[in-house]
Amino acid sequence: MSTTIRQASRSDLPALERLLRESFDASYALFMPGAYVRGWRMSDEPARTLRRLLSDMGVALSGEIPVGFIACEAGSVAELWVSPNHKRRGIGAALLGWAEDRLRDRGFDAVTLNCYERNTSALAFYRKMGFTVTARYPSRRVAGGPVTVFTMKKPLDARRG
Ligand SMILES: CC(C)(COP(=O)(O)OP(=O)(O)OC[C@H]1O[C@@H](n2cnc3c(N)ncnc32)[C@H](O)[C@@H]1OP(=O)(O)O)[C@@H](O)C(=O)NCCC(=O)NCCS
Repeated sequence: MSTTIRQASRSDLPALERLLRESFDASYALFMPGAYVRGWRMSDEPARTLRRLLSDMGVALSGEIPVGFIACEAGSVAELWVSPNHKRRGIGAALLGWAEDRLRDRGFDAVTLNCYERNTSALAFYRKMGFTVTARYPSRRVAGGPVTVFTMKKPLDARRG
């Protein structure tokens, strides 16, 4: 089934929170400190993050089912999550392309993001997508941390090639 991407809306929030929690368990829970994982699971941070970023969020749909989402904040990608059962099907790349088009239309000449050093899958993905590491720093508010964070950057050409 083909994937489409559209701006997210309030009615997507419950499904996106489920997706975020599933993807977190399948990825972040494997490499982040246990104290952080427990705190995150019990908190309302997933719901708050989604509400805060909703106005600039793209959702990938397989039929009617959300299978991934991306959120921008200024010239950055703030969140990118793909459902564990839908990874390695090009959905992350399609969501990133959607966000890059929006940022380019707003006049940004580069896109930045932060990624944990231990998130080797995401690092491999972002490198494949053309990002390079421009800085590294210890995270501040990670329970059980700090852990190292990479800042990554990708130039946005005038036209996507
Ligand atoms: C990172 C993430 C968004 C990638 O999404 P995805 O839909 O699986 O990625 P794509 O299918 O578009 O991958 C495109 C290319 O990136 C590379 N890539 C993606 N995942 C990879 C992995 N786990 N290991 C190595 N390379 C990878 C591959 O070259 C892939 O192409 P291929 O499958 O033809 O080899 C997804 O793994 C995810 O949701 N992770 C958990 C949340 C997360 O860590 N988000 C980033 C926070 S900074």
